[in-house]
Amino acid sequence: MPKSWYEQDDFWEKWAPILFPEERWEKAPEEVDNLTSRLGISPGASVLDLCCGPGRHSLEFARRGFSVVGVDRTETYLKKARGLAKTEGLKLEFVQEDMRTFCRADSFDGAFNLFTSFGFFEDIKDDELVAKNIHRSLKSGGVFLIDVAGKEILARMFRERDWYELDGAIMLEERRVTRHWSWIDNRWILVKDGKADEFEFGFRIYSAAELSALLGDCGFETIEVYGDLAGAPYDHEAKRLVVVAQKGKKVV
Ligand SMILES: C[S@@+](CC[C@H](N)C(=O)[O-])C[C@H]1O[C@@H](n2cnc3c(N)ncnc32)[C@H](O)[C@@H]1O
Repeated sequence: MPKSWYEQDDFWEKWAPILFPEERWEKAPEEVDNLTSRLGISPGASVLDLCCGPGRHSLEFARRGFSVVGVDRTETYLKKARGLAKTEGLKLEFVQEDMRTFCRADSFDGAFNLFTSFGFFEDIKDDELVAKNIHRSLKSGGVFLIDVAGKEILARMFRERDWYELDGAIMLEERRVTRHWSWIDNRWILVKDGKADEFEFGFRIYSAAELSALLGDCGFETIEVYGDLAGAPYDHEAKRLVVVAQKGKKVV
């Protein structure tokens, strides 16, 4: 069986400069300010960063005194995250595991999955498995936040092709909406020094109603929808689809 695109270490390693440029790291403190408000948590609380990548948000939460577990499948990203934590003397746990299997019953006050890291699997049952495992992993009253490119936003801003310059290279992005608007196929091409690198990948796209329904079916009780991490409405100007789902009732 050939590996799925998200299981290819080469992809995450080679395209890391595109995915995580300096400006994206610089956004993490403000994003964590917003996350703490959306999740309703304070320092001392335990948080799960599901698909933590090189640790942009995990490290920032640890700096603020949260108890943090970051989970990701990609060893090189975890190595980088662990190295940065060591340099700063931060205590947090990074676990190499697939998001479909990670589960720690009743352990977290908040969990988050950021920057379009949900919907990678061909079978929607795998997305449900992830949501069910997170539901089990949260304490009662705990909150799960997912941040993806919502279907309504993609429909509004869709472009088949884009290109831009990046550190002396040219980056081309091609997109195709497939499977009756439930999936998006992407082709990235990076041209540098006369050589082209290319990668194809796809993921499921959710509308606000579809993602809310999935989380409801997986046991979450109160579900709210926002248009960014700062809590803007999910309307015609929304930039992201942010769904915030709570397990049971909040314990005060
Ligand atoms: C777009 S990056 C987001 C990283 C991080 N959340 C951030 O905002 O910087 C997606 C991440 O998902 C991870 N990933 C992909 N498939 C996964 C899987 N099946 N289980 C766990 N992690 C996975 C990748 O290794 C990558 O770090």
